[in-house]
Order: sequence, then structure tokens, then C-alpha cells
Amino acid sequence: MSQRTPIVGGNWKMNLHARDAKQLAEVIAQRVGGLDKAEAVVFPPFPYLLQVGTVLKAASGGLTVKLGAQDCYHESNGAFTGEVSMSMLKDVGVETVLAGHSERRHVIGESDELINRKVRAALEAGLDVVLCVGEKLEQRELGQTDAVNAAQTQYGLAGVGAGQMGRVVIAYEPVWAIGTGRTATPDDAQGAHRAIRGTLAAMFGDKVAQATRIQYGGSVKPSNAAELFSQPDIDGGLIGGASLKADDFVAIVEAASATVAAAVG
Ligand code: 13P
Repeated sequence: MSQRTPIVGGNWKMNLHARDAKQLAEVIAQRVGGLDKAEAVVFPPFPYLLQVGTVLKAASGGLTVKLGAQDCYHESNGAFTGEVSMSMLKDVGVETVLAGHSERRHVIGESDELINRKVRAALEAGLDVVLCVGEKLEQRELGQTDAVNAAQTQYGLAGVGAGQMGRVVIAYEPVWAIGTGRTATPDDAQGAHRAIRGTLAAMFGDKVAQATRIQYGGSVKPSNAAELFSQPDIDGGLIGGASLKADDFVAIVEAASATVAAAVG
């Protein structure tokens, strides 16, 4: 049984305004405070990072909810209108960043090269990184799932040292499952996760591959979280829609925590 601590992320995407964001953070921080077998992190929109971070810091408990950013830029400063640097994010209390989310790849048009620059710059700045990978529906139908995930993992982590991998989490998010209500079956997700772990083993060796957490994302809900998280290579989840409802997000973090308790007990 793996010793990996599951990690559950709440990706709020471009949703909520200040009052609701603070309220959601407050409830989440209070209610997951007693859990100590899983990690939780929330990714609010940029304008609310500082306020949400302040709320999270004020709450106490066994599990502190970390503050994450949905995006970042690899340059340290200068004429990059609209972009936000790593040091600015650290300044407002951000500890971890998403890179390569499918909406940034396929809606905004980010390339593997840009994603890789962001991953390396974030790690160099001392931030943790969640690298998102996942195939589109047509790629899945052509049997390309594992090849797409392998390529996005290899490109995304090019130039990253094995010693930095302790600060990297992979999020496998099949594009066809995001926001659609369609979830990968636990078996399909497990197969994709196992293949991604194989790619990590080829890149960094078996020890690093076994220690790296791989989250599943795509229509995770309280009703399907436990079964997904109990798969041997699934180490928690990256949650979109359900992370905007405190009850649902807390139930999903509880499911991750319970998986560990069941494995240990
Ligand atoms: P949903 O949970 O809404 O499908 O979104 C998943 C996701 O994209 C998290 O990053």
C-alpha cells in the first residue's frame, strides 16, 4: 500500500466574487481542520488570493488548507501585460500553482513549451506545482490516451530534476470528463494513472514515481470520490464544480482522508 498522502484541490476557475469566495474559504477551513490524513488546497481567482489566504490562515486545525493559484507566468518581472509572476504569488501567500490545465491548453491556447517554462520557473521560485495532463475525447476514441498523457508529462517536466519532484503533483484530467458530469470509470482512471506513473518511472526512476502523487480530475462528486480515490494509483482529486459547494468539497476531502484510514486500519 502506498505511503502517499492524498491531495484534494478545489479549482474555483472563473467563479465567485469576494464575499462568496471568503465565505466558502471560511467554511472549508473550519470543516476540514480536523482531518489529518489528506491535504487540501484551494485555487481562487487572482483578485481574491489575498483575502482567501487571510481567511485560511486565520482558521486553525489539524489540516491547514493551502492557497494555490490557477495560473502563473515564468518571467520574473517586466513588460508582460496582464501576467502575474511567481514572486507576486508568493507575496500574497500562494504555495502552489496549477500548470497546463486543459482550459489553458485548449481554450486559451497554451503550448507544452510555455507550460514547461511555467513548471520550471515555479519550482525554481520554491512553489509547488500541479501539472495537469489529459486527453480529449477524439484522442481517447483513437486509443491515444496513454500516449497523450505520456507526451504532456514528458514535455511538462522536461528539465525538472528528480530532487524537485517532491514538489510536483500530476493531475490527470480527461478533457471529456471536465464539467460534463461524465466521469472516467475507476478502472479507466486507474489504468491512465498507472501508465502516467510508468512515464514518471522512466523519467525519474521508480522511487520518485512511487512517491509522486497523481490526482484524478473530471466531474468528481461526493458520490463517486471514494471509489475513485481507493484505486491504488489515484491520490486524491482536482475538483471543479463540486469545489464551489462547501458541503461537497468537504465530503470529497473526507473521502480522501477515509481512504487512507481504511488502508492503514
Ligand atoms: P469539474 O470537477 O467541474 O469537472 O472540473 C474538473 C477540473 O477541471 C478541475 O481542475
